[in-house]
Amino acid sequence: MTRESRIDAAIERLFSEISFQNAPEGLYDPLRYMIAIGGKRLRPRLMLTTCSLFRNDFPEEVLAPAAGLEVFHTFTLIHDDIMDRSPLRRGHDTVWKKWDPDTAILSGDVMCIDSYKRIAKAPAAVLGEVLALFSKTAAEVCDGQQYDMEFEKSGGAVSMDDYLMMIGLKTGVLIACAAQMGVMTGGAPREVWGPFYDYGYNLGLAFQIADDWLDCYGDSRVFGKPIGGDIVNGKKSWLAVKAAEKAPEALEAAMAIPVEDAAGKAARISAVMKVYEENGVGNEAMEAIGAFNEKALAAIAPICCGDDFALLKQFADSLTGRSK
Ligand code: IPE
Ligand code: IPE
Ligand code: MG
Ligand code: MG
Ligand code: MG
Repeated sequence: MTRESRIDAAIERLFSEISFQNAPEGLYDPLRYMIAIGGKRLRPRLMLTTCSLFRNDFPEEVLAPAAGLEVFHTFTLIHDDIMDRSPLRRGHDTVWKKWDPDTAILSGDVMCIDSYKRIAKAPAAVLGEVLALFSKTAAEVCDGQQYDMEFEKSGGAVSMDDYLMMIGLKTGVLIACAAQMGVMTGGAPREVWGPFYDYGYNLGLAFQIADDWLDCYGDSRVFGKPIGGDIVNGKKSWLAVKAAEKAPEALEAAMAIPVEDAAGKAARISAVMKVYEENGVGNEAMEAIGAFNEKALAAIAPICCGDDFALLKQFADSLTGRSK
């Protein structure tokens, strides 16, 4: 069995075994729903990938924390969709749309708590450090989400440095945590924990810039989310920040188009996309994704070679070229 097929098989097993208690159904049905409609399962896959460099098996003490990462991530999506007023997730109705925002808040809360129970099954030798890393990460995701909302509401421009700080928190740290938890639970020497964290962090930056790009240029049926939502919401996405640097007046005029109805939303999306086209912003985003991907690989290049490096490069490339 190749390493990739062992990881695939472990991911299958892990997801077939995730379960939540039955009653009250109103609280736990949304959890079952979100896990059933699936996602890319990138974070547990990354954890198992980095773990596989240091051990050959995936016992419960590795699989349970990997599931915990996905459960935590899914919780952040449930709350994020309320905050972003998004109707579609993974190609299906979001929890707040299908049920209501109160349900989405409480189901998200219990999902967050559930993730801790799974993370707490990490190997005893590293449990304290795994919990400390995970708690720090979870708080940082909240920090990032708050900056995301503050930037959205602020009328002024956001610098590229502030944007990168914000996405590092809302998205980078959890992917970094997944990469580091893999090597921690794999029994790797401490000296490599940091480089794997940096690998995940830079992959996370590339991943969020790709998400911003797909929000404009993706195919909604494949991406599973509405296209143009970031423009309608006035999000400070990578594209918006870059366009504000290059053509602030044109962008401001396009963003001033009111979005009270469907026609207004469509008009704003096409006007903003035109500014992006005219300034080559989409292509520059792709270059930035490539640059962070390379930075990720540079972090582990001094400590990984041969098949190990190839596996980590393959993982990074699969994110860079994604369409969903
Ligand atoms: C979406 O994450 C939120 C971001 C950090 C961009 P994913 O793109 O990993 O979502 P799923 O889990 O595959 O649905
Ligand atoms: C999501 O950022 C980050 C977190 C959920 C923590 P986005 O708001 O861009 O994610 P999507 O596009 O809704 O998946
Ligand atoms: Mg958001
Ligand atoms: Mg969102
Ligand atoms: Mg997005």
